[in-house]
Amino acid sequence: MSEASPRACVMGWPVKHSRSPLIHSYWLQQLGLSGSYGRAEVAPADFPNFLRYLGEKGYCGGNVTLPHKEMAYQLVTQRTEIATKLQAVNTLWIESGELWGDNTDVTGFLNGLDAEARNWDKYGDKALVIGAGGAARAIVQALLLRNIKEILIVNRTLERAEELVRLFGSRSSGQSVAAWPWTRLPEALKSADLLVNTTSLGMNGQPALDIDLSALPDHAVVDDIVYVPLETPLLAQARARDLRTVSGLSMLLHQAVPGFEHWFGQRPEVTPELRALIEADVMSAAK
Ligand code: ATR
Repeated sequence: MSEASPRACVMGWPVKHSRSPLIHSYWLQQLGLSGSYGRAEVAPADFPNFLRYLGEKGYCGGNVTLPHKEMAYQLVTQRTEIATKLQAVNTLWIESGELWGDNTDVTGFLNGLDAEARNWDKYGDKALVIGAGGAARAIVQALLLRNIKEILIVNRTLERAEELVRLFGSRSSGQSVAAWPWTRLPEALKSADLLVNTTSLGMNGQPALDIDLSALPDHAVVDDIVYVPLETPLLAQARARDLRTVSGLSMLLHQAVPGFEHWFGQRPEVTPELRALIEADVMSAAK
């Protein structure tokens, strides 16, 4: 590899479970490009300096994961419109001496959904989002961009769902974002064309998201952003009802595309082979 080979990394704390190195290394190899993508375990106190000297360390950019997404938003010198809206950055690159920050979770979520549940938005325009953290924020933004008419946010802590409603403001375009308490979940399911779990419930080591999906319409699509395990109890329940399902793996794979293009100069594809590679890794880690 020549001196000029671009280097990128995922910055987090902890970072050892990140699948990003596997994804980007696969694309580098498939496309025959020189370059590398590694892991950088950076404690929160060290993160500002790490970003300040990113170029000096030989990196042209990278991904930012927990707990640094909000701090990265503060530290970049240029932000995309979507990163500004979400006040969180997951993808960085250096361009003309500026450190740019983007948030690719929004397009990652939409592209994953489009790929796994074709025409999901042709069957209705009501979405139910469970949870109100950082992931929910990106997903509500994505649904608004896709012109979903009614977005209902249900969260254990109602105030956080109400904060999200305030963030996205009252809509003039015939779209609405509303917050409902957890106790109204059964009622909310009845009219949901799309259900998205954005909480960590269902992840290995966490309790399952304990809801009964029988009230969902027959055409509903169920998307879970959790991907360890690959099939959460929520997705298993949806599949048992013959509903279309989308695993969190789709968002993970699709959010990686724009970063790779910035750092290595070619737009990669999410192929079945890549998906199988990451699935095998998730399964072997769960053993
Ligand atoms: P992220 O930024 O990854 O979305 P987060 O900000 O910690 O993470 O948000 C996690 C979400 O999971 C929140 O909506 C949280 O609900 P609260 O706002 O009430 O904390 C939700 N969550 C986590 N554990 C939960 C549980 N046991 N039951 C219901 N919701 C839970």
